[in-house]
Amino acid sequence: MKTEEKVLEVQHLSLSIGAKEMLHDVTFSVPDRKITCLVGESGSGKSLTMAAALGILPEGAVLAPESQITFRGKDIFSIYQDPINSFHPAIRVGKQLYQMAKGYRQVSRREFDAGIAAVMTRLHLADPTVVLRKYPFELSGGMLQRLMIACGVYVAPSLIIADEPTTALDVSIQKEIMREFRAINHELGIAILAVTHDFGVVTELADEVIVLHHGVLVESGDVFRVFDHPREAYTKALLRASFQEERL
Ligand SMILES: Nc1ncnc2c1ncn2[C@@H]1O[C@H](COP(=O)(O)OP(=O)(O)O)[C@@H](O)[C@H]1O
Ligand SMILES: [Mg+2]
Repeated sequence: MKTEEKVLEVQHLSLSIGAKEMLHDVTFSVPDRKITCLVGESGSGKSLTMAAALGILPEGAVLAPESQITFRGKDIFSIYQDPINSFHPAIRVGKQLYQMAKGYRQVSRREFDAGIAAVMTRLHLADPTVVLRKYPFELSGGMLQRLMIACGVYVAPSLIIADEPTTALDVSIQKEIMREFRAINHELGIAILAVTHDFGVVTELADEVIVLHHGVLVESGDVFRVFDHPREAYTKALLRASFQEERL
């Protein structure tokens, strides 16, 4: 794929739950090899947009017929908000990560163990063999989230979708995890679509930004363009509010 190509295109996405339309004609694309952040307040429709992009709608959600989602890569790896809920409590994490990886690659357990340990070392995670034998409750949320990221790196998908990947974690861990996402993107060229309500995350991570408000796409584009010269009043207000919050 060339640098300018789009790995994901969402066009005219409208989605209703019951009688209520939650997303209204949302159109955006995710460039290959870049980090795109989808931002908006809580309830603006970020998670529903991601769910639609992944083709896993919540019960009762219906796409309007004109909605078009085109994925041009080979596979998508998703990372969710709360790492503890991404793991089964009674199975060792190494085995669970292996099961996830097998959904993407034909690989033996032995090959996987060696490969994931190498990725963990690369991400500066100590004692891979010991960690992989632990149960989820024996590890911190930050460690579980890094293991998900390590698994994402191992399978090397075309796109990683991460829905508020650092929200459940301490601020210091959030920073490290963001650094890991950046490293994955820069070193491996994996496109990342990260959902966040946190402008700190956007300024740290994004090449491109998409602003969502009440299920409507307000504006999108290069992060410097959108932040330095927001075209829409809502984006200006959102930026103002978030920078005031930071100063408090
Ligand atoms: N499964 C669901 N059933 C009913 N309403 C939902 C469901 N999921 C989300 N919603 C509603 O859709 C809107 C957008 O939700 P969501 O995409 O989760 O927002 P965000 O991720 O931006 O916080 C909200 O008003 C939310 O209450
Ligand atoms: Mg959400």
